[in-house]
Amino acid sequence: MSEKLRNVTVYESDKIKDVLVKIDKNGFNGVFVINKRNKLVGVITDSDVRKNLLKNKLNVNSKAVSITQKKFIKIPASKVEDSKKILLKSNKMLLPIVEKNKLIDFIHTSDLFEKKRSVRKILVIGGLGYIGSILVQDLLKLNYHVNILDINYYGCHLDKKILLDPRLKVFYGDCDNKKILDKAINDCSDVIHLGEIVGDPAVNIDQNFSIKNNFENTVFVMSECIKKKINKFIFASSCSVYGNVKNECNEKSKLNPVSLYAKCKRECEKSILAFKSKECCPVILRLSTVYGDSPRKRFDLVANRFVIMAIKKIKISLFGASSWRPFISVNDVSRVLIKVLQAENHIVRNQIFNVGGNKENYRIIDIINTIKKYISINFEFSTKNEDKRNYKVSFKKIKKVLKFTPKDNLKKTISKLIKRYKKEGINENNINYYNDKKIYRILGKNI
Ligand SMILES: NC(=O)c1ccc[n+]([C@@H]2O[C@H](COP(=O)([O-])OP(=O)(O)OC[C@H]3O[C@@H](n4cnc5c(N)ncnc54)[C@H](O)[C@@H]3O)[C@@H](O)[C@H]2O)c1
Repeated sequence: MSEKLRNVTVYESDKIKDVLVKIDKNGFNGVFVINKRNKLVGVITDSDVRKNLLKNKLNVNSKAVSITQKKFIKIPASKVEDSKKILLKSNKMLLPIVEKNKLIDFIHTSDLFEKKRSVRKILVIGGLGYIGSILVQDLLKLNYHVNILDINYYGCHLDKKILLDPRLKVFYGDCDNKKILDKAINDCSDVIHLGEIVGDPAVNIDQNFSIKNNFENTVFVMSECIKKKINKFIFASSCSVYGNVKNECNEKSKLNPVSLYAKCKRECEKSILAFKSKECCPVILRLSTVYGDSPRKRFDLVANRFVIMAIKKIKISLFGASSWRPFISVNDVSRVLIKVLQAENHIVRNQIFNVGGNKENYRIIDIINTIKKYISINFEFSTKNEDKRNYKVSFKKIKKVLKFTPKDNLKKTISKLIKRYKKEGINENNINYYNDKKIYRILGKNI
């Protein structure tokens, strides 16, 4: 067997940990499984392994055969000339070319043709969301063309004027739907992926639904980006991958995610970095907890929630008051996303950046004390702690490499937020402003 084929082949009896090492090395997001007689018996993708690890259905010492997909698309040697067409039509990254049940070659998306694009058009998946609604407006201001693909879980809150902008197209649908994704991604140069189930409480509602949305979809979208020769793929990860730690975390720190939401982010990061495409430039941004106003409100975010509760004179039950967490305004997140989009590929390719500011690590009680400076706030300490996160984060790398420091800070943004919410006269009971409540309703479950 040639070295090329050895790099993408494992035996049925090989251990999952060795399969992962091989996938990581070969950059093809998968391997072919052969038996002792060198006959091809199936395929294992990076996504299959990580999905089953997330569901605790797999052990790294299990045998490869335990998760081998035995029904798979194979290209007979006689059809080798059609292999590019067959790959493009399928929703796969990697297809084997076989003769008499033996692997003789394979085709990977990196073998497809390069496309030339004149206009820079950005696909924002989840573009109707809290961050997306701000980002899309900022991109249009900079004269980018923008496509949004969004499943519309929380409604469209963008202004009519924005929606009538000829440079903007909105596609409603699930990003796992190849037909819709194909339409939305058509002619796009770059993809920013913000479309998933966001926040620990919403993700905890249904494990399978969340792993599908927050892990499998990301891997699928990334693989389609490679097929379509997308330039940058920017993924919104989260500083919550650090979990519960005493020392300040940087991008090289050990990860200790304490929720399914954060575990999915960690696995997405690993899968994205395992792609190793020559053309596509993936960048991972670990965002601080976001706050501030957006057309699509989120009152399940701690700072926004405390502000609206103070305005509406609702008593706050405060848990984890002394837990540390970094914060960033939604406008600063949009600035970073655009900065990364505009950065030269060789500076950001396969890089992970913590996104925030070194002075913007706060304890939860600091949020209360900041709000108290502007408006009275009624709260009591609670002993039950529903949130185990506690981490301080270093933002030296993003400052050094991308020259990014936040323009906003907690004091300034909270004071703006109070004024804005008071002026807008918001209905704090609107279910579209709470991810967990809305997902409960969508899944037909009781809270
Ligand atoms: N807001 C924060 O504090 C924060 C912090 C760290 C990371 N992030 C990450 O930033 C991204 C955006 O967060 P947000 O605060 O804007 O959340 P959001 O819930 O407001 O937005 C997510 C959007 O994605 C859409 N969506 C969900 N599943 C989809 C699917 N399968 N196909 C297409 N669209 C889908 C939703 O309809 C929604 O409009 C997420 O990846 C999130 O994990 C956010």
